[in-house]
Amino acid sequence: MSFSKSKSKSKSKSKPKSKSKSSSDEEDLKNWGILISKSRNIEDFLITTNTIKIGRNKSSHFQITKSSKISGTHCIIHRENPETINKNSKQKKVALAFLEDTSTNGTFVNGVLVGKGNIRELNYSDEITFVSAIEPHTKLPPVILYFRYLNYIDKISKNFIKEKFTVVEELGKGEYGTVSLVLDKKDNDLYALKYTNTEKFQKNFKSKKYCIQRSFNEVNSLIKFEHDNIIKLYEVFMVEEKYLYLKLEYVKGGNLLERIKSKRCYPEDEAKIVIKQILDVLLYMHEKGFVHRDIKPENVLMVSSSDTDIKLTDFGFSRAFSKKEPMYTKLGTENYVAPEIITERGYTNACDLWSTGVVLFEMLLGYLPFSKEIRTDMSVWKQIILCDLEFTSIDNNKISPQAKDLIQKLIEKNPLKRLTAKQALNHPWITEKK
Ligand SMILES: Nc1ncnc2c1ncn2[C@@H]1O[C@H](COP(=O)(O)OP(=O)(O)OP(=O)(O)O)[C@@H](O)[C@H]1O
Ligand SMILES: [Mg+2]
Repeated sequence: MSFSKSKSKSKSKSKPKSKSKSSSDEEDLKNWGILISKSRNIEDFLITTNTIKIGRNKSSHFQITKSSKISGTHCIIHRENPETINKNSKQKKVALAFLEDTSTNGTFVNGVLVGKGNIRELNYSDEITFVSAIEPHTKLPPVILYFRYLNYIDKISKNFIKEKFTVVEELGKGEYGTVSLVLDKKDNDLYALKYTNTEKFQKNFKSKKYCIQRSFNEVNSLIKFEHDNIIKLYEVFMVEEKYLYLKLEYVKGGNLLERIKSKRCYPEDEAKIVIKQILDVLLYMHEKGFVHRDIKPENVLMVSSSDTDIKLTDFGFSRAFSKKEPMYTKLGTENYVAPEIITERGYTNACDLWSTGVVLFEMLLGYLPFSKEIRTDMSVWKQIILCDLEFTSIDNNKISPQAKDLIQKLIEKNPLKRLTAKQALNHPWITEKK
């Protein structure tokens, strides 16, 4: 059970802590799990050894001192030897991790107390809470960690997909696969099953290794995120080393592009709520050292019939990045792509802010700033490189000066002058109450 790991070696500040000192590719393979912290003041922890102790003690592998209720050794995570399990079991899916509760105050998994001396299986994305409620005397919130497997995937047969899911309808179709609404027969719940044919990648890209790696970009990014506005990844299946299936959280409101089309354009107070959520996600991702690279309305999903509750999806172009090492791969979606990606002189995570500016423009004015329709005499890429952002007199009547100011500071040619996610979140158009 392993999948090709991402080639990208993030050197960002927010790289998770680990006892392992080496950062070589081989050492990376030893990272079999990760504990993602909900709180920003506790860093994520990469699990490399078969047993890790978590608690206040200095000798803990993962030392947490943020709460007085945390025991010296609060809990232990054990890894079963996969070889032993495979020999003894013919099961399709095996749990490789177990949590042992060693604390009097208790460790909770998905809100359920494990209990001192008890051991329970840990599944992908389980939530581990160290103190059940806010500590009354200190008003400290509980310490919450999310467990994820790394280098982990279920290899299954094609029939197994049919046995496991009932396809309800197609939700979307891309160049390399489809997204379907499915019913999981096990829990009778609805999910979005995203299917990618990695062989189709191979027709468009050079090496097989690169194609496989590209197909896993989405998994490698999504498994490291826990955010209310990012679509959740539940399971990953690989069939015949070719077909990749991601079982994702399903949201029923369609995508933002459909919503813009049906509304013609968004009122500013509603657009503000949507853009703020996108910026929140970008701040979260960028701080973790990840870039999205395909921000556009089709990739912003609507949670319900509400025009403002969103979740970001399609992390197929996402990857870890380092501010010191610019990216060069030319990708994205024509109308939303930043000029520095087109000119191929190296780009950073600032490209996501450009695309967010384009989305904001489109939401408020109902058309794209750079498109074939706007200027028939010039290619879209040329328009983007020129960055000649024009607001007609009708536009100026339609939007407030504050909104226009934010758009201009996001659709800014120079990525060094462009607002960051944090700066954009502090822009008066976003922060002002009315
Ligand atoms: N989790 C989901 N819940 C509901 N609808 C979804 C979900 N994921 C995707 N969709 C629908 O399917 C469409 C395509 O999904 P997605 O953007 O993930 O794939 P894609 O565009 O085919 O990928 P790519 O752009 O890499 O080719 C979305 O625009 C949306 O309408
Ligand atoms: Mg998409």
